[in-house]
Amino acid sequence: MTTATSAKGLEGIVATNSSICWIDGDAGVLAYRGIDIHELAVNSSFEETTYLLWNGKLPNADEQSEFNRQLAGSRHIDGHMMDRLRHVPNTARPMEVLRTAVSALSYYDPDEEDNSHDANVRKSYRLTSQIAMVIAIYDRLRKGKKPIEADPTLSHAANFLWMLNGEKPSETATKTLDLALVLHADHELNASTFAARVIAATLSDVHSAVTGAIGALKGPLHGGANEAVMRLLFDIEKTGQDPVEYVKNLLANKQKVMGFGHRVYKTEDPRATHLRKMSEQLSRDSGQNKWYDWSRAIELYINAEKKLNANVDFYSASTYTMLGIDVDLFTPIFAVSRISGWAAHIIEQHDDNRLIRPRAEYLGPVYPQHWVPVNKRD
Ligand code: ACO
Repeated sequence: MTTATSAKGLEGIVATNSSICWIDGDAGVLAYRGIDIHELAVNSSFEETTYLLWNGKLPNADEQSEFNRQLAGSRHIDGHMMDRLRHVPNTARPMEVLRTAVSALSYYDPDEEDNSHDANVRKSYRLTSQIAMVIAIYDRLRKGKKPIEADPTLSHAANFLWMLNGEKPSETATKTLDLALVLHADHELNASTFAARVIAATLSDVHSAVTGAIGALKGPLHGGANEAVMRLLFDIEKTGQDPVEYVKNLLANKQKVMGFGHRVYKTEDPRATHLRKMSEQLSRDSGQNKWYDWSRAIELYINAEKKLNANVDFYSASTYTMLGIDVDLFTPIFAVSRISGWAAHIIEQHDDNRLIRPRAEYLGPVYPQHWVPVNKRD
């Protein structure tokens, strides 16, 4: 018999203990292992942030170079897996391809069945490298281009851009992407991380948990929102409408404006603060002012009209577009970063596991009802 009352969407429910990420939604604070995201955004790199998430402390110089060596050394995709990617229809969405590829990567992982701490860390290195590679490789294959060999001398962000575009990325592009990866790396029990922990808690493996997490991230109420934001901006461009009038119409038709609102933040999402700055900077540097200017006009209107703030997805859309990245790669790029948080949570779950199995508040017909023969039913 259940006694607790339910909260729709588990709003406000504390579902587990964790030492990885802390959010104060009223004050707009996000911290990884106690370190404020604003400090990490200015000073850290994706590699250092991932070390922090996985190990609970910042690395010293030796630990960081060993970490970088392990991560860059994991840039390998089995030849059979490459054949699988070559046979994906080029109409498949990159997020679908990533979901299926991560599941299939377990066939080639020597630690697939081993849920020990050390094996989980080894698999996390591999998946962190491979997720970025799969996206870049598939994007080139679907465009009829040859996949590019990974470059172990490059950082994670730079190698992704290199494998995607086949040319060495500019310092600005690498820095911008690296910062976006730091900002997206973890966010406590967001839907995809919760999904990963639920799967891991059955003592299933890292690949299964990450596959489930990718499925959750894909939805437009979660990671898929960044693609929806850019489609909205493109539609504004195509129809020539005023951006504010466009979103006014959406609201009048009871539609949500993607990239706004958050279950936890009741004030500015601290990640949006940095993404707004990046978007503005790229806009001024590139002369492609409209994406930032339209986004800002929409933001000011939604703030005033609905008291809703931009979330992490809103300005990542214009930022990635100004980096020349295709819209349907935005959510996969979220996964390029969030694998570091998913891995940290899966490792934490396996290190001190208990099955996650909540209850539902039953609202169906009152017990007992009775089975009746078919000829006696209404
Ligand atoms: N546009 C317009 N209205 C909104 C929006 C929005 N983006 N977000 C919330 N609202 C309104 C709802 O219509 C609802 O109004 P009502 O009470 O009059 O019916 C109220 O605000 C509460 O909204 P819920 O959807 O119940 O809030 P919840 O906490 O469940 O959802 C969520 C949070 C899913 C993020 C929501 O704000 C949303 O759908 N935003 C758009 C999608 C988006 O940007 N998702 C990315 C979130 S960040 C991330 O996952 C990485």
